[in-house]
Amino acid sequence: MPSIFVFDAYGTLLDVHAAIARHRAEAGPEADRLSDIWRTKQLEYSWTLTLAGHYVDFWTLTQRALDYALERVPSVDKKLKSRLLEAYFKLGAFPDALPTLRALKAKGHKTGILSNGSPAMLKGALDAAGLAGDLDAVLSVDALKMFKPRPEVYALVTDRFECTAADVTFVSSNRWDVMAGASVGFRTCWINRAGMPDEYPDFPPERVLADLNALLTVG
Ligand code: 2OP
Repeated sequence: MPSIFVFDAYGTLLDVHAAIARHRAEAGPEADRLSDIWRTKQLEYSWTLTLAGHYVDFWTLTQRALDYALERVPSVDKKLKSRLLEAYFKLGAFPDALPTLRALKAKGHKTGILSNGSPAMLKGALDAAGLAGDLDAVLSVDALKMFKPRPEVYALVTDRFECTAADVTFVSSNRWDVMAGASVGFRTCWINRAGMPDEYPDFPPERVLADLNALLTVG
């Protein structure tokens, strides 16, 4: 039966470490540490601002998080900043993203994205990765000016597809995002590419998959 598959963007379809991968040689031996701090701070800013009742768009937070990471990892030349941001704006997709979206569409399913990303950065990355044509909806939290995991954000999906939460299969690599999707009643798939230990035992994923290809056995 056709169903609705909604994906997280950054970390799930789009590889957040692809930006540093493009400049690894110039970034030097602490490239991965820089990228980890960059991602961690980007998310932390989104959570802490939302908890405090504030909103600053995700692209601005991405820039501020990179500034912080470059201060913390002085071995990486700050001159790389503009090139890393440019690469992040046109971030590459994981190799299984496009074939999976295509195959789901070919089976008659609806597909969408629900992301913290600002509309401009989502457009930049999805166009660059060639994913835009296989998505029925690209939903940004920017419409509500609050970040995941606020439950209001997940209601953007049921509003857009005019469906109930149980009609949605929500797919994310971020375990905290899966927790929030499960808590609003979505069916959930946790894409656990790195084989990380489980968390949030009160809100388990319906399925744990090693990559996006494995979704095709579900849909
Ligand atoms: C996204 O919303 C959380 O980065 C993740 O795309």
